[in-house]
Amino acid sequence: MNELCRLFGGIIRSKKTFIVSQERKNWQSKLGFILAASGSAIGLGNIVFFSSNAYQYGGGAFYLPYFLALFVLGLPIMMMEFGLGTLTRQSFPLALRKLVGKKGEFFGWFSIAGSFIITMYYVAILGWACGMLLGTFGSLFEPGITAPFTPFETPTESVSSTVFFFNMIAGWQPLILIFIIWALNVLILRKGTHSIERAVRVFVPLMWIFMIGLAIRGLTLDGGFDGVMFLFTPDFQGIAEPNVWRGAFSQMFFSLSLGMGIMTAYASYLPKNADQVNNSLLVSFLNCSFEFIAGTAIFSLLFVFALNPAGTSLSLSFFVIPQGIAGLSTLPWVVRLFGFIFFLLIVMAGLTSSVSLMEAFVSAIIDKLKLKRNKALIYVAIVGLIGSALFSLPQIIDAGLSGNGTLGLTLLDLMDHWVFNYSLLIVGLAEVILIGWVLGADRLREALNEHTKLRLGKWFVGLIKYVIPVLLTVVIVSSLISEYRPNGPDGGLLYGSNYEMPGWEWLPVFIPIFWLVVSITFSYLLTNRSNK
Ligand code: PFF
Repeated sequence: MNELCRLFGGIIRSKKTFIVSQERKNWQSKLGFILAASGSAIGLGNIVFFSSNAYQYGGGAFYLPYFLALFVLGLPIMMMEFGLGTLTRQSFPLALRKLVGKKGEFFGWFSIAGSFIITMYYVAILGWACGMLLGTFGSLFEPGITAPFTPFETPTESVSSTVFFFNMIAGWQPLILIFIIWALNVLILRKGTHSIERAVRVFVPLMWIFMIGLAIRGLTLDGGFDGVMFLFTPDFQGIAEPNVWRGAFSQMFFSLSLGMGIMTAYASYLPKNADQVNNSLLVSFLNCSFEFIAGTAIFSLLFVFALNPAGTSLSLSFFVIPQGIAGLSTLPWVVRLFGFIFFLLIVMAGLTSSVSLMEAFVSAIIDKLKLKRNKALIYVAIVGLIGSALFSLPQIIDAGLSGNGTLGLTLLDLMDHWVFNYSLLIVGLAEVILIGWVLGADRLREALNEHTKLRLGKWFVGLIKYVIPVLLTVVIVSSLISEYRPNGPDGGLLYGSNYEMPGWEWLPVFIPIFWLVVSITFSYLLTNRSNK
């Protein structure tokens, strides 16, 4: 125990680090922190990806792996990431460096690189959501539209959100919208915790009100309850499928914003004696409740209108749900209003998540390079804007839609496959090994227990040291093995190699290599730069 106090006390008091710590502005209230952390967790992951994963993996079959992932993986890792923040008062890479050395810092930057790539395409998706939002005032819910893709060249006879979407992504308008979204990110982050707190106090409660409203509307439709039954009735047969487990694990990491450096950055603005066990329970509870309410809203719509969300997760929010909304009423203004609320909800939920990741990145480079906040913000936003612009390039490379149609959406799909499935889990694995074995999970447990009434037992140490590393290794290795599918249904060696995109066939090979080379070089360079 004494040793522990010395270790952490030393870290907090050590002169070099204290310079950084002194400049840190704390959250103004615990509520502000909880709203911000839950605002980060609640995002597209809860609204879009949860429902499409749950559907893809068979509704009730997803349920058990999901809860196991929450209790065995999600909660302990969130406690660990929050703990790193309050113990060191540093952003993720430097927190890891203080506690476990250079190797830790490397994985800290690797996580920032991966999640920044995610944010770049996340913002591109938000740009499209804004485009759909504007479309609710325009032609989104009107028949007679066409798109420059072979399957959609003739005017539609009824409302088609799919045609509207493809028409939109083949134009330049989303580029303006992503610029606006990055500008909003900068605005919300310009004063650090103070301005974040001001934004989440408005956005987060509104998100809840809108989502509960949509769920009530879905449940009161004839047949809406059947969808909820499909989602909530456990199905123990499906759990033998390794894919279901992989889906649940990646979903949990993404949904709780773990392995991204976010939770450590946010927790570093809390007082040292914050109860991180309690905070983790609260944030996870809010996140998962929102996820289930969103699932209720979406599954009820799917069942009432017999819609099939197969395909990519994006198709769910951009084609399937708007199609359901179009059938909600014969009054056009009611349809437009619900469409507007749904896309506004997505944009707000996405913004409170993207700012959290930008804060993780910005605080890390402020800590490391001692940049001024505004400078760091502008640099990060410019790089982010360029990345998001690439993910929304409107050039059509696959008019027959064997894959994704445009260059931007194809880049997004390929990048998402690799970074979403691997980056977060690799970081999670590195974290538990380093904290569990180099720092010692017992030390972390004691430090967390010092400020909580809900004291963690020895089981916590067992989870961090043994159970989680084994589970994550199994999931990562089995995912990698299933990447190789020479005779698979999509008949290509790598994800995406079955898409017909003349001249661009090299993309499925290039993207994973690009991600790894860029992330590893970035992490190596920053880790080896001396801390000024
Ligand atoms: N927890 C977020 C979600 O569920 O949507 C994931 C996330 C993605 C957070 C991108 C931050 C981010 F920039």
